[in-house]
Amino acid sequence: MMKLPRQFFEPLAIGAPLPMRELPVQLERMIHFIPPHIEKMRAKVPDMINSVDVILGNLEDAIPADAKADARAGFIQMARDNDFGQTGLWTRINCLNSPWVLDDITEIVGEVGDKLDVIMLPKVEGAWDIHYLDQLLAQLEARHNLQKPIMIHAILETAQGVNNVEEIATASPRMHGMSLGPADLAASRAMKTTRVGGGHPDYGVLSDIDESTAARQFSQGDLWHYTIARMVDACAGADIKPFYGPFGDFSDNEACEQQFKNAFLQGCAGAWTLHPKQIDIARRVFSPPADEVIFARKILAAMPDGTGAVMIDGKMQDDATWKQARIIADLARMVADRDPELAAAYGF
Ligand code: GLV
Ligand code: MG
Repeated sequence: MMKLPRQFFEPLAIGAPLPMRELPVQLERMIHFIPPHIEKMRAKVPDMINSVDVILGNLEDAIPADAKADARAGFIQMARDNDFGQTGLWTRINCLNSPWVLDDITEIVGEVGDKLDVIMLPKVEGAWDIHYLDQLLAQLEARHNLQKPIMIHAILETAQGVNNVEEIATASPRMHGMSLGPADLAASRAMKTTRVGGGHPDYGVLSDIDESTAARQFSQGDLWHYTIARMVDACAGADIKPFYGPFGDFSDNEACEQQFKNAFLQGCAGAWTLHPKQIDIARRVFSPPADEVIFARKILAAMPDGTGAVMIDGKMQDDATWKQARIIADLARMVADRDPELAAAYGF
């Protein structure tokens, strides 16, 4: 049994806004996490609105049990107190089997649902988790007379979630995208690590022994390549956006940058930033490099209708590289609109 295709675009509650047919076009290079129960952090929000693409009030892990209600109230307060303009306002609610989640959803949607763009749902295991939130949001949107549907962003952080990643991606027109959650996923898989993202020095391959020197090289592998690849294909196939999640070692900016870069090159739109110094790293990595933008624009200029084959700097270009160039140039255009320095570097 399958739901009729046209039913996907009917509201799930009488009076709820129509589901979106397309994702809003939004630059989301960094999803910046803040703990909303801390007043000092909330006070930074007005400045932050100008320096990040998305601000997320975190209610889930890292918020102590005795601060859950304050975090929720603090998020409602910061949503009310600020005009977010082009900057996205998201919250990460507690997981669906927790004692806090029902109040998270009903209070936040009731109080500031008109300002909320996206709810990030942790520990999603299958389409049923999305369906539950989808229906509940429609009921609340109808009750509170909201005009714009709130989107859902799933965290991919359980083994079962990875097994069901394609069904999760296509579970609802509310789906905005997905983030890899390497810390919970490591626990769920019984990986023998104690880290939040990044590599591990013992995971890799040894070269064969060189007969003459008896030497061999160890190359560290990427623990996350497989999952990011699955997530990117599931999201791209469903026309939603994939993201890398947290990088927990704030003392290793180089490794953070490399992790973000691998995600960017594989197709991710952005990453989480948990520390202010990760904001610049994400901005640098998830904005396309100027030389790539300039080359992409050369391809587009050389193939005005996107067909045929031309040579540029000794490299063959055809319809497929034209499409790659389009992706990079369109992203550069969005970045340029937000960032005058990069606009100049891109030659816009
Ligand atoms: C994020 O929530 C993670 O578990 O990595
Ligand atoms: Mg997690």
